[in-house]
Amino acid sequence: MLPEVIITDSVQEMARLGADLFYQRAVDSVEKAGLFAAAVSGGSTPRPVHRRIAASAMADRIPWQSVRLFWVDERMVGARHSDSNFGNAKSDLLDRVPLPEEHVFPMPFWMTPRLGAETYAKVMRLFFQRCKNGAPVFDLIFLGLGEDGHTASLFPQTDVSESSRKWVLAVKGGRPEVHRLTLNYCVLNQARQVCFLVAGANKAKMVKRILEGGGNSLPAQRIKPFEGKVTWICDRSAAGLLDRCD
Ligand code: 6PG
Repeated sequence: MLPEVIITDSVQEMARLGADLFYQRAVDSVEKAGLFAAAVSGGSTPRPVHRRIAASAMADRIPWQSVRLFWVDERMVGARHSDSNFGNAKSDLLDRVPLPEEHVFPMPFWMTPRLGAETYAKVMRLFFQRCKNGAPVFDLIFLGLGEDGHTASLFPQTDVSESSRKWVLAVKGGRPEVHRLTLNYCVLNQARQVCFLVAGANKAKMVKRILEGGGNSLPAQRIKPFEGKVTWICDRSAAGLLDRCD
C-alpha cells in the first residue's frame, strides 16, 4: 500500500492534522474495540502535536479512559532531563488531559538498558491480549525521521535483523548519543496505522529519498506495515524536494 502523503503549509498545520488523526483513531478504535493503544515518539517534532491534542476542543471528546499510551523509544535519562521523551510528553500532554496514570506506560528509563528492554516487552505482553505475527497490534504509532534516515531509535548502524522478533531493543546512538530503548520493526510494522511527522528543510533530502528514492536499507524505509496504513504529515519545508510538492 502506497503511503498517504499530506503536505502542510506550516508546522502548526502539521500539529493540527496530527492531533486530528490521534482524535479520529481514538474514537474509531474505542467504538470498534473498546480501547485505543497508541505509541508516541520523542524528539522535537511531536511536541507541538502533543500540545495541540491537549489544547484543542477535541481533547474533551477523546475517550481518555479507554486510551492506553506507550512510547516508541526513550533515552535512558531522568524524566526531568530535557532529552526525556516521557518528560516532554508529560509536560506537553499528560499533565493537561485526564489520562489515568495507570494507562500510561513509559519505557523504564530508570533501569539498565538490557533490563529495561526486557521489562517493557513484559509490560506490553501483559497488556496486549491481541497479537499478530507474534507482535502486539497498536492502533496508531507516531514516528519521526532523522536526517540519517533513522526512525524510533533504530539507526542505520543499529545491528538488528529485519526478522528479529524482539519487541524492544536496547541500543546506543542518535543525538544525544545515549543509551536508548526502542520498539523493534516487528512491532512498528504490526500497527494498524503508522504516521510519520516531519518538519524542517533539514529533513527534505531524506524525505525525498525515503518517499521517492526506493531501496530499503535505511530504518525509515523498513517501516512497511504488514496490513496497516502509512501516513506522512510533512510541512512544506520538509516536503520541498518531493516531485509531488508544487
Ligand atoms: C528520538 C526520536 C527520534 C526522532 C528523530 C527526529 O527519541 O530521538 O524518536 O526518532 O523522531 O530523531 O527528531 P526531531 O523530531 O527532534 O527532528
